[in-house]
Amino acid sequence: MTAPIAEIGRVNTTREISANLWDIEIDAPRISAVTRAWQFAHVRVSGGFDPFLRRPLSIGPIAGDKLRLIFQVRGEGTRLLAAKKSGDPVDLIGPLGHPIQIPDGEGPLIFLSGGIGVVPLLTLDDQLPGKRERIFILGVRSTATIPVSLAEAAERHIQWSSDDGSLGFHGNTVQLLERIVDGLAKNTAPLVIACGPGPMLRGMKSFCLKRRITALVSLEVPMGCGVGACQSCAVPRSDGKGYYLVCKDGPVFDCRDVVLEPGELP
Ligand SMILES: Cc1cc2nc3c(=O)[nH]c(=O)nc-3n(C[C@H](O)[C@H](O)[C@H](O)COP(=O)(O)OP(=O)(O)OC[C@H]3O[C@@H](n4cnc5c(N)ncnc54)[C@H](O)[C@@H]3O)c2cc1C
Ligand code: FES
Repeated sequence: MTAPIAEIGRVNTTREISANLWDIEIDAPRISAVTRAWQFAHVRVSGGFDPFLRRPLSIGPIAGDKLRLIFQVRGEGTRLLAAKKSGDPVDLIGPLGHPIQIPDGEGPLIFLSGGIGVVPLLTLDDQLPGKRERIFILGVRSTATIPVSLAEAAERHIQWSSDDGSLGFHGNTVQLLERIVDGLAKNTAPLVIACGPGPMLRGMKSFCLKRRITALVSLEVPMGCGVGACQSCAVPRSDGKGYYLVCKDGPVFDCRDVVLEPGELP
């Protein structure tokens, strides 16, 4: 794994995709050159010490020297980031976390994402081993909350689910997952990779355990240092032997290895 790089990037473009969802493209050649799928950047959102802590954001699609951060405005940090203008500097540390490792197998890879959890899978192009079939699912509340353009989603053959039925399958992502799994040929062993809100991850885990499907989860928990020093990103291990640190051991885990209880994930 490449050692993290500290780099002052420069905002190229900013775009509000939909209410509270932003896509900013940053010129950051050194980090862009070495990032692998599912790694993240720790972003200093202001020039001063308020807020003091950096904010972790998945590194989205990379084109040449430029990387994209696609994020939802939740609090002060992301609000400040969304206010950046073309030409503004952005202090980044990255890439952090382990790139995704896909276990060997032949069945289809089913990427399950909820809302802004779609970002890491947008970086996957050309980075996955082998020729396994890939199925992409993206769940949203409604068309008002889509985190990527319909054109970008169509390029990747993303299948939509929406809670209100306004886009794609009417229902949640786990219900769509179940329908897709039921449609696979007998004896197929899919691998599910999920990133999204806590309730979606818990629903996915319970479905996959019941159906004996191997599943990976990408965890997005609040972070302090981003490099394994402060323990603020600890999640309990399922074997009772303490905690994993999402920044250092993750962000992707076999869902059987981590406890995903309510309250532990946003
Ligand atoms: C590895 C990783 C990758 C991430 N990638 C993305 C991404 O690509 N796009 C994106 O929009 N968000 C992503 N997040 C979540 C993002 O880090 C938080 O939304 C952000 O730090 C909130 O900062 P804030 O100052 O705006 O909000 P704060 O004022 O810090 O918090 C506002 C609200 O957001 C919640 N919150 C705080 N931190 C997180 C967190 N880490 N995850 C979820 N909720 C949080 C708080 O509980 C609170 O309710 C990622 C998180 C991790 C750990
Ligand atoms: S954020 Fe400090 S140990 Fe993970």
